Amino acid sequence: MAHTLILGQTESGKTTFARILAEKYRARGIPVLVLDAAHNAWPADYQTADAGEFMQTTIRSRGAAVFIDEAGRAVSWLNKDMADVASMYRHLGHFAHFIAQRPTMVAPTVRHNCSRMVLFSVSRADAADLGKEWTCDEIAAAPQFKQGEHLIISRFGAPVRGNLF
Ligand SMILES: Nc1ncnc2c1ncn2[C@@H]1O[C@H](COP(=O)(O)OP(=O)(O)OP(=O)(O)O)[C@@H](O)[C@H]1O
Ligand SMILES: [Mg+2]
Repeated sequence: MAHTLILGQTESGKTTFARILAEKYRARGIPVLVLDAAHNAWPADYQTADAGEFMQTTIRSRGAAVFIDEAGRAVSWLNKDMADVASMYRHLGHFAHFIAQRPTMVAPTVRHNCSRMVLFSVSRADAADLGKEWTCDEIAAAPQFKQGEHLIISRFGAPVRGNLF
């Protein structure tokens, strides 16, 4: 299963969306592992704010849904220990969700290993960059999205609009 990038400015709905997704994985018996420096309440089998401890736990696990909230901060810590978190997770059978406010907050190696993106409201500049990176014209509408509005984009296949609220 592919990795997912969840992007959008503050309060746009990223963590809310990710928690709903986490709940669905658990309902299907898939373990959910969460790294969240902000200590939000998650439906998770394991949750920590400690990146080093999280790394140890994910290395010992297999086939889990991994969520890294505030990935801008977390992935830069994780990158101290390894060049490419995303490809390591794929070898372990994990599918990861990297959550950040801006695309530039996530390391390019991680971004390029994501084959799905859930895009909430972002600035015009970020939408322009993402439009080029994902070759998707619908991304141009993202700066006008209201709270909860998003676009689910896969590398192959048509984008789908959604609304959380
Ligand atoms: N009907 C609704 N139900 C629940 N929340 C709603 C509703 N309408 C608006 N909201 C707001 O949507 C916001 C979504 O917040 P969320 O934590 O998911 O954002 P975020 O993108 O993760 O932000 P950050 O980058 O700051 O972590 C909340 O502040 C919540 O108050
Ligand atoms: Mg959040």
